[in-house]
Amino acid sequence: MKEMNWNEMGFEFRETNGMFVAHYKDGAWDQGSMVKDSYLTISVGSTALHYGQQCFEGMKAYRAKDDRILLFRPQANAKRMRESAQRVLMPEVPEELFLRAVKETVLTNEEYIPPYGSGGTLYLRPFLIGVGHNIGVRPAPEYIFCVFCMPVGSYFKGGMRPVNFITTDYDRAAPQGTGQAKVGGNYAASLLSHNEAVSQGYADCIYLDPLTHTKIEEVGAANFFGITKQGEFITPQSPSILGSITKYSLLQIAEDIGLNAKEEDVFVDELHRFVEAGACGTAAVISPIGAICHKGKKTVFHSETEVGPLTKKLYDHLTGIQFGDVEDIHGWVVEVK
Ligand code: PLP
Ligand code: COI
Repeated sequence: MKEMNWNEMGFEFRETNGMFVAHYKDGAWDQGSMVKDSYLTISVGSTALHYGQQCFEGMKAYRAKDDRILLFRPQANAKRMRESAQRVLMPEVPEELFLRAVKETVLTNEEYIPPYGSGGTLYLRPFLIGVGHNIGVRPAPEYIFCVFCMPVGSYFKGGMRPVNFITTDYDRAAPQGTGQAKVGGNYAASLLSHNEAVSQGYADCIYLDPLTHTKIEEVGAANFFGITKQGEFITPQSPSILGSITKYSLLQIAEDIGLNAKEEDVFVDELHRFVEAGACGTAAVISPIGAICHKGKKTVFHSETEVGPLTKKLYDHLTGIQFGDVEDIHGWVVEVK
């Protein structure tokens, strides 16, 4: 693991030492345990397979310079998973079970956490699925909560090199739909538009608000932010956006480093107000946006080849906290070991 350059390794499935599995039956969760497997055996009637009754989370474990293993705001992921579960009528995973599962998964797979400074992290994927014999459109009789992990590098090729995006006419979520919840259906809805963008040479597509198609909502599976000429950090707010934990952290960090930070509508016809732009999320971290193409018109932000100074400053501050190099004044970091 030590010799790998994780900036080049991308975001791919890899086998590890095992995963955490807990079962919900007759109204209660069991204790759950680590299993040395990467398969689950479930009924063919499972609602997760037919009706999309499932949700998931994405988070990372970071190796610090002094070898401590750190998580970033795991309670926020636990909370968002409870909210996603409510939206599709699944039982909530209690915070204690969620955090214990994540920590046990990390400790069992400690050898897979890339070294400090390698550009890699251990990506954790908690998920909750409706299982058990069933065929009607109704909530499942039983549930499985599972956490597995894998070492990852950059989500978008290039890491901190800017990449370009194109807006799509497809919607990933409806105005009163499930966009705010981290449920699989939103991602199934994004596959075709993603492929179309990639086949035209873009890193991914940008979703506009599903009601009017005039405002930016999401950058693939990440949130959008822009920095204005006046040094304001702006990120969209909408009921169909997934509330990114990275985005909320950046809103705070932007204030901490002296920028004016706010959530407001980002009209796709007014992109020229931004001198820098980026995509943010757990997997994407911060990916600088070189340019956005919308209806044949290309808007270039700072540069298509160089990261802008404020984007770099936000990135350094965020990853500095995550890897334990910058003082964690907001109490966001949780030590696993
Ligand atoms: N938007 C979507 C659609 C996502 O899937 C993700 C990833 O979780 C994000 C944004 C970023 O959210 P977070 O920063 O909590 O990982
Ligand atoms: C994340 O950023 O963790 C995500 O879940 C994005 C994507 C891999 C689904």
